[in-house]
Amino acid sequence: MFQINENYQKLPGSYLFSTIAKKVAAYSQENPDKNIIRLGIGDVTQPIAPAIIEAMHKAVDEMGNAQTFHGYAPDLGYDFLRKAIVEHDYKARGCQMEADEIFVSDGAKSDSANIQELFAENSRIAVCDPVYPVYVDSNVMAGRTGVYDPKTQMWSDVIYMPCTAENNFVPEFPKETPDLIYLCLPNNPTGTTLTKSQLQEWVDYANKAGAVIIYDGAYEAYISEENVAHSIYECEGAKTCAIELKSFSKNAGFTGVRLGYAVVPKALNCNGVSLRDMWARRHGTKFNGAPYIVQRAGEAVYSEAGKAQLKEQVAYYMRNAAAIKQGLKDAGYTVFGGVNAPYIWLKTPEQMNSWEFFDYLLENAGVVGTPGSGFGPSGEGYFRLTAFGSYENTVAALERILKL
Ligand code: MLT
Repeated sequence: MFQINENYQKLPGSYLFSTIAKKVAAYSQENPDKNIIRLGIGDVTQPIAPAIIEAMHKAVDEMGNAQTFHGYAPDLGYDFLRKAIVEHDYKARGCQMEADEIFVSDGAKSDSANIQELFAENSRIAVCDPVYPVYVDSNVMAGRTGVYDPKTQMWSDVIYMPCTAENNFVPEFPKETPDLIYLCLPNNPTGTTLTKSQLQEWVDYANKAGAVIIYDGAYEAYISEENVAHSIYECEGAKTCAIELKSFSKNAGFTGVRLGYAVVPKALNCNGVSLRDMWARRHGTKFNGAPYIVQRAGEAVYSEAGKAQLKEQVAYYMRNAAAIKQGLKDAGYTVFGGVNAPYIWLKTPEQMNSWEFFDYLLENAGVVGTPGSGFGPSGEGYFRLTAFGSYENTVAALERILKL
């Protein structure tokens, strides 16, 4: 008789955003006349920029012609895209990465879930709390997290680094030494970030501890402050301790298109074994490359027209962030984030817990957000609103919340 991977049985409940979608669908069915504004999952709403659409059309036409047709993509990504990434995301910022350290993928979600495969089963992981749930769940599936305590909502073998208003959302170095440290900066869900010098301290810590930082930079395009690094490789020594994951979802509206990349530097080794070579082996075996049309779309992100159009798109969402933040602040809410990231993180009012506030907002304002506790125990008493809605919906949602 076959046996299942018992680790899946340890996962509590369903994936956070699936739970929310189910709850909202049930509520909509019971209240078909209610107009619901969704500021829950961080899904973009604005159309893809014209320069990118144009590149996709061209690539589609190429696929319809025998001379320009493309079959399987190179499994690590087309050179034209890897080179554009190196030029614009790294060289332009003073980071010397090479094209063969870039691995094009179908997005940062899968990369952030899959990257743990490179590490020993008994590796200790450290995560910020609250945290993007994929980092923990993927390690649960791999059998690395020990036993779940439903009371504390913590795994026995995970090192949690609380990030709350009390420590200004800056994680402290853990007492136990981790092997893998997940950092998402600017941060999902809190919308806060670290300065470059604070990040440098983490790089120094990881190098000293012999740990690897899995650095999720999905929200990098939203950085507005000068003293924040756009890549962990801006920090000295990061190439020997960090893997960086990037996404086209939030900066270019690709949530439905799917494209991302991982950077695994050649200098990252474990007893002489190259993690870059391991990831290349893994990619080659398990992935057949992001589609040609999508990679051409990714290339257009770096064109002059693409860059200008995306700057406007980011500004559009950040106007939403500013409106939510200011509006809630004026109404007496305690609010964080929204300056270097498209998320607003607020304290729930009147001692409501995160899920109580979720229900309250849905039922009384028809607004969907994300309960902070869904991201980890230190998220309890907080709530996340995304700035990725349309401006009209954002303003309407805010008006409804302020009327409560
Ligand atoms: C979020 O809402 O946290 C993210 O958009 C989900 C994701 O990117 O997978």
